[in-house]
Amino acid sequence: MPQSYEYDVLVIGSGAAGLTVALNLPEHLSVAVISKGRISSGATLWAQGGIAAVLDSDDSLENHVRDTLAAGGGLCHEDAVRFTVEHGRESIEWLIDSGVDFTRDENAQLHLTREGGHSHRRIIHAADATGHAVSSTLVEQAAARPNIHLLESRVAVDLITHRKLSLPGNRCVGAYVLNLNDHVELFRARFVVIATGGASKAYRYTSNPDGASGDGIAMAWRAGCRAANMEFNQFHPTCLYHPHAKSFLITEALRGEGGTLLLPDGSRFMDRFDSRAELAPRDIVARAIDHEMKRLGADHLYLDISHKPASFIQSHFPTIYEKCLEFGIDICREPIPVVPAAHYTCGGIITDNRARSDINQLYVVGEAAFTGLHGANRMASNSLLECLVYGRAAARDIASRASEVPPPPPAPEWDESQVRDSDEDVVISHNWDELRHFMWDYVGIVRTTKRLQRAKHRVDLLSREIGEFYSNYRVSSDLLELRNLVTVADLIICSALQRRESRGLHYTLDFPGLQHEARDTLLTPTSFRTQAP
Ligand code: FAD
Ligand code: SIN
Repeated sequence: MPQSYEYDVLVIGSGAAGLTVALNLPEHLSVAVISKGRISSGATLWAQGGIAAVLDSDDSLENHVRDTLAAGGGLCHEDAVRFTVEHGRESIEWLIDSGVDFTRDENAQLHLTREGGHSHRRIIHAADATGHAVSSTLVEQAAARPNIHLLESRVAVDLITHRKLSLPGNRCVGAYVLNLNDHVELFRARFVVIATGGASKAYRYTSNPDGASGDGIAMAWRAGCRAANMEFNQFHPTCLYHPHAKSFLITEALRGEGGTLLLPDGSRFMDRFDSRAELAPRDIVARAIDHEMKRLGADHLYLDISHKPASFIQSHFPTIYEKCLEFGIDICREPIPVVPAAHYTCGGIITDNRARSDINQLYVVGEAAFTGLHGANRMASNSLLECLVYGRAAARDIASRASEVPPPPPAPEWDESQVRDSDEDVVISHNWDELRHFMWDYVGIVRTTKRLQRAKHRVDLLSREIGEFYSNYRVSSDLLELRNLVTVADLIICSALQRRESRGLHYTLDFPGLQHEARDTLLTPTSFRTQAP
């Protein structure tokens, strides 16, 4: 018999964003935090470089704002940038008070590193495994709170809204959740928070862990929320290139500490593309690498830090050093083979500075959200900062409204009476591969209208096929992820087709210049056309 639950707050996702919300809520509220994998799964665990914040007396809030706006290619919302930057220090202090052990220098001061686009040393980090330090501390804190229930192996399927229940108003009241050890369960809640991360699994090559399938973006979209700027998929310039290395990132901090990008003949090239060379913003570096790889017919380039003392490399980048050694690469002696890979979803579900979405009592935080902070290209290490700042803002807002919001209304159990077990799962695995291949080939670092139209044609076919499959067969984790990825891929392609210019991460050979006015690409569920223009 499937379970049903009622909580004050349902948080879908247990990365930095979801756990920040849960831990900042008052302890008299009952909170469920669900994760489709382990509680520690998600991109947060894998974050390497660190968290950007103004912590040095030589730096200033104005510098951080200016750098973020510059990296964002004219499309950041300045109010969101200021809000984030101004709440940076208190968010870091909260992490330190919670027990995160950040790297310190020989004088016991917090060590700050540099990454692309930052004019100052501003990245606080725990060696090259910042995400692990943040995630393990937050999970430990949440596990110790009696009001917080951490539930693993629970895949949210869809949101429950007043509209779905044919009730008046525009409110979210829970979600259907597949328990991977059981059936679909009913979670009713006064507030629902989506913190499900990004959608980089839409691409064949990605730095992201499994699970980054844009579930929350797709669920909120289906429920009626608007999305923005989905065409801006960030490609990280340097992932490890090795046949057996799956999704392993080589942090930008390695370039921040003097690492240089090299062609196969050993020569540097980044200064031909930007005066900031290796520390130019990510869109510029990834495009330069892509250009050089295509020009030379090379399947990878190199990143070299071997000129630094081995002791420095091993203490600053222990994870990368060990990982590369597993593949027979000694980074103290030789350059690292690297390629760009899909890394971050800059667009998402539109929220305000309290993390509220278009639907009442539905909040969206972290990589799934569009706050306006990142514009056309996210600056390195601003993502974890956004998770913390908006996670805390969401918790404050929920706390301030908790006494006014009535309990959720009754909702029906999940109905499985019309579906049967699938006898052709090959459709799912085939379509997963197809989607990720054509997104890489047609909607990648360099785009054209023709390629985008080809992708649109294919995604329409897949949408129909998966929609039919979903209506006839019992849900599984793979089917749910594929259904969400197809939806998000469609949003990405439609947004990319709408942008008739090259800005930040969206670069198209058909419109290489900039439009005079910088505009967001807004998609609204009711007006959204599924036909390519
Ligand atoms: P995530 O941490 O991705 O968590 C998502 C959660 O949602 C998981 O618990 C997952 O199980 C759950 N979930 C998803 N779908 C469902 C569903 N349907 N039902 C139930 N649960 C679901 N950013 C920085 O600022 N600094 C860095 O140094 C940095 N390094 C990075 C390195 C790597 C390799 C990667 C991949 C990213 C890096 N980023 C970095 C980006 C940053 O880590 C992410 O943007 C950020 O961690 C996202 O946090 P989140 O809480 O929004 O989502
Ligand atoms: C990195 O360490 O290079 C990733 C930083 C980020 O994505 O912000």
